[in-house]
Amino acid sequence: MIGRLNHLAIAVPDLEAAADQYRNALGAKVGEQQEEPDHGVTVVFIELPNTKIELLYPLGVNSPITSFLEKNPAGGMHHVCYEVDDIIQARDHLVETGARVLGNGEPKIGAHGKPVLFLHPKDFNGCLVELEQV
Ligand code: CO
Repeated sequence: MIGRLNHLAIAVPDLEAAADQYRNALGAKVGEQQEEPDHGVTVVFIELPNTKIELLYPLGVNSPITSFLEKNPAGGMHHVCYEVDDIIQARDHLVETGARVLGNGEPKIGAHGKPVLFLHPKDFNGCLVELEQV
């Protein structure tokens, strides 16, 4: 059911510094900062030949990244994002298998303007999973 790895997301304590590091030390193609108020994050996408890296920084008072950075002050791996063809079909299948969908269970529009859902990390070996319909 899942397709390509769309991106890996890393929560970072300093977005400018992290973007500079990917640009200068790692020599990667780094995009512009984008604010995602619906998700409580500011993001920068790094384009690699085979996937993307999403740098995440808190936006607003209820950002889910704030508590993550309190537990992981140096930053850390936050989620993996897999592509699916049909997010509703994927969700219904996952719910049947016992997986929990975060939030109200309905897709939201993600950073690429496409519908996304998040699956409970405790149901996926401690890893928060994002699904994106492509
Ligand atoms: Co993501």
